[in-house]
Amino acid sequence: MQKPKNHIIVIFGASGDLSRRKLIPALYKLYQQKLMPENFKILGLGRTDLSDEAFRLEMQSSFSQLFNNKELNSSFSDSLFYSPISYDQFDSYKTLKDRIQSWQSDFQEKADVLFYLATPPKLYGTISEMLAISGLNESHYKIVIEKPFGTDLDSAKALNKQILGFFKEEQVYRIDHYLGKETVQNILVTRFSNIIFEPLWNRNYIHHIEITSSESLGVEKRGGYYDHSGALRDMLQNHLLQLVGLVAMEPPVMADSNSIRNETLKVFQSIRPLSRKDIKKNVIRGQYTESHIKGKHLKAYRDEEGVPSDSKTETYAAIKFFIDNWRWNGVPFYIRTGKRLPTRVTEIVIHFRSTPHHIFCDNTGNPNSANLLIIRIQPDEGILLKFGLKIPGAGFTVQNVNMDFHYNDLADVKLPEAYERLLLDCMLNDSTLYSRGDAVENTWMFIDPILRAWKEDPDIPLYGYPSGTWGPSNADDLIEENDITWRYPCKNLSDDGLYCEL
Ligand code: BG6
Repeated sequence: MQKPKNHIIVIFGASGDLSRRKLIPALYKLYQQKLMPENFKILGLGRTDLSDEAFRLEMQSSFSQLFNNKELNSSFSDSLFYSPISYDQFDSYKTLKDRIQSWQSDFQEKADVLFYLATPPKLYGTISEMLAISGLNESHYKIVIEKPFGTDLDSAKALNKQILGFFKEEQVYRIDHYLGKETVQNILVTRFSNIIFEPLWNRNYIHHIEITSSESLGVEKRGGYYDHSGALRDMLQNHLLQLVGLVAMEPPVMADSNSIRNETLKVFQSIRPLSRKDIKKNVIRGQYTESHIKGKHLKAYRDEEGVPSDSKTETYAAIKFFIDNWRWNGVPFYIRTGKRLPTRVTEIVIHFRSTPHHIFCDNTGNPNSANLLIIRIQPDEGILLKFGLKIPGAGFTVQNVNMDFHYNDLADVKLPEAYERLLLDCMLNDSTLYSRGDAVENTWMFIDPILRAWKEDPDIPLYGYPSGTWGPSNADDLIEENDITWRYPCKNLSDDGLYCEL
């Protein structure tokens, strides 16, 4: 593994949750694996007034809470620094520049500088502008931007325009943490390093594709943010469509950033836009309502902290759509996501067509079912192929069996956190696993008409679904029209058949 050159990492919004829960732990894990640069400094910036020492203590204590009382080692901890900042005050950036310059003079080789914007999105424009005005945007500066990147097509375009006015595209890293997941990257390897899948990976052999990303938790303490976002903006426009991009793309010429991102962009450009009529029929939205499960009361979304009691925000969304190109013409894609569903699981299910002529049956006398390839993104990361096998004994009864690979079985391999990989890649100037500006705009182009329809047309229903169930039953109609059903990945259903984890 390549080691990055010297780096100064500046985290805006460093006293927030993302920094303590994800960024500092990810940088520390890289440090433990000797993947951090020879020389590095991490500077946290935030509105809170903290000393370097107080910041170190805070990061220490969150780290031990998260990781079983483990501690950050002192030489890593000594590389953490903190400075209070007023995001719109030029003086703050002057102080930042002085600090960066003084560190640069300590290093023998000039360091790259990585600005990580872990602030509320409304500050992205101001911060990038102030950095540029302060001369902190030359080619060795990089800027990492957390999602959400815009709230609709217009705001995403405006944000792109603003940031690209100050930084070049190759300096901008738009995070979609799903792309940092090992199992998501493995979609590429499964497809393009095995000869057996690619010949079948098209409309001739695939009947439909289903992607589910369900969460058992509700909105927890994020009601204030979530109510302005909803499932479509929070999960579907970014994480789920990125999965679609990787599943549906053509083979890239090389495994480099531009080749891969050019191909996923073409997928987003080929998604058939949904008309108002399609939206009414092929998009389902829902919101969780209260329920009692095994004596436990689960709040309705509208009773969550920070959520208005008449909120119309969707906590569930399911869409059926098509990709208009040679490979996928006529193959429906079904994607769904929701909070307070029975379990936390993200999986991609490739439903192959059944054999053109059935000569064998299963033990109920039905023709044996079609093959499924299930890519389990999380948890229980792995890949499962379902295929028919003869039941031993007389006759030719067929049973569906599993060829199942679990990453857990590789005893010596521990899956890295998405942020580890993404931060390392950014330090190595590799943007393959980051969203490019044009791709972000194209995914918004698909999502925008749905948001508009929901806003403008009060007749489009928002269905309630009891917490702990698989969302509104109307979503079943979406997929059942072709005599097929969603796959329900939850194994340990409770006695009432509702949930498994809550
Ligand atoms: C985030 C969303 O981007 O992804 C959250 O804002 C969601 O609402 C989370 O819970 C899911 O991520 P993961 O990695 O747990 O599937």
